Amino acid sequence: MTLSPTAEAPTPPSAAEDGVWLSCIDCEASFAPFDAVRYTCDDCGGLLEVRYASPASLSDFEGSGVWRYADALPLDGGVSIQEGATPLYRVPDLADDVGVETLRIKHEGMNPTGSFKDRGMTVGVAVARELGVDRLACASTGNTSAALAAYGSRAGMETLVLLPAGKVAAGKVAQASLHGARILEVDGNFDACLDLVQALADRGEAYLLNSLNPFRLEGQKTIGLEILERFRADHGTFPNRIVLPVGNAGNTAALYKAFRELVAAGDLAVDEVPKLTGVQAEGAAPMVEAIENGADEIRRWDDVETRATAIRIGNPVNAPKALPGIRETGGTAVAVSDVEITDAQRDLAEAGIGVEPASAASFAGLRKLRDDGVVGEDEQIVCLTTGHLLKDPDAAAAAGTDPEPVPSDLEGVLDHLAEQP
Ligand code: F0G
Repeated sequence: MTLSPTAEAPTPPSAAEDGVWLSCIDCEASFAPFDAVRYTCDDCGGLLEVRYASPASLSDFEGSGVWRYADALPLDGGVSIQEGATPLYRVPDLADDVGVETLRIKHEGMNPTGSFKDRGMTVGVAVARELGVDRLACASTGNTSAALAAYGSRAGMETLVLLPAGKVAAGKVAQASLHGARILEVDGNFDACLDLVQALADRGEAYLLNSLNPFRLEGQKTIGLEILERFRADHGTFPNRIVLPVGNAGNTAALYKAFRELVAAGDLAVDEVPKLTGVQAEGAAPMVEAIENGADEIRRWDDVETRATAIRIGNPVNAPKALPGIRETGGTAVAVSDVEITDAQRDLAEAGIGVEPASAASFAGLRKLRDDGVVGEDEQIVCLTTGHLLKDPDAAAAAGTDPEPVPSDLEGVLDHLAEQP
C-alpha cells in the first residue's frame, strides 16, 4: 500500500509561516497560510491542503476536544464551544447482529450543534478572524449552516447561509435561524447553492466556509485522531476499517489526511491504516460510481434524491482528495437505499443511539458490505454517525412508533393498554 500525496514529512517552502503552509494537491505550488483569502490553487485551480514541517505525534497531545490536537492544527486555539471528545459507543449486540468481531459507533451528533461540522468551524472561523474578514458564508444541506451560524455568531461575525429550498431538515434551519444567520433559500439543489456561494466568495462578498476551505478539514481530522487514540486504548490495536457517510467527501479526505500525518510521524504503520469505507445514498452516489468504475474523477449527478437530505449531493467537491483515500487505504464505497438507511436508523436507536438519516447510512453500508462478504467476520470496525436524531425530527417520527391517543383518566389508560398490549 502507498499513500499519496507523500506521507513523508515535507521540507517547508519559503511561503511557510511557523512551519505551516498551503500546498496544491495537483501542482504542489505552495502558499503562505494567512497572507490572503484563498480557497484553491492560484496557479492551476486545484484543491489546497494544509502542510506542516513537523508532523504531530499521538504522544504530543494534551487536553480534551478538538484543541487537544493543536499541534496537528494550523493555529493554537480557535473560536470554541467545546467541540470534539465525542463518545465511541460500544454496541456488542449490533456487532453480533452484523457479524463482526468489534463494532464501535463514533457519535458526532454529540457535538455542540449536533454534528461533526463544529470541529471544522472552530478552526475555520478562527482562520477567518486571523484573515480579518467580517462576513462568513456557506452552502449547506443544513448542518454546516447550523455550525457556521453558531461559531460565526460567537466570533461576532455576520453569517450568510445558502440552503436548497424545501430540502433541509427542520432542526437545522431552526439552528441557523436562532443563531442569527441570514438564510437564503435557493431554488435549486445543494450543488447549485455551492456554485453560487463560491461565486460570491470569489467576488469577495464573504469568506467561504464549506469543506472546499482546507482549514475546515484540519478540524475534521480530529475525528480520526480521537478514534485511533480511544480504540487503541480500549482494544490494544487500531480499527482496521472506518465506515462513514459521504456527501462532499470532506470527512473522507480529512480522515485520510490524519492517517497520512500519523504515518509520517511514525505512529501508524502503513499496513495499520484503517480502510476508509464510504457510504452514499443510492439516489446521490457519484463517489460510489467512480470507485466502482475505477475512475479518477467523479461524474456530476444533476438529479439527486434521498431521504438522507444531509448527503443529497451530486458533485462532491473533495473527490480529488477522497478517491485516493478510499483506494490507497484498501477501502471501498457502497450505496444504500432509503429503506436500508431507515432500518439502520432504527437499529442504532434500539441501541440508544439517536442519529439523523445520513448518519445511519454508515451502519446500513456496513451491514450491506458484510452481507456481500466484502467485510469479513474478523474485522474491527468503527462506524461514524455524523449528526444527531433531533436534526431531522420529521424523519425520526416517520421511522419510529406513532403516538396513541388515550383519555385523561387511569381507567381509560389501563383499558387502552389492555386492548392494545
Ligand atoms: N453526514 C451529515 C449529517 C452531514 O451533514 C454531511 C454533510 C455528511 C454526512 C457528509 O459529509 O461532506 O464530509 O462527506 N453535510 C454538509 C452540510 C454538506 O452542508 O451540512 P462530507
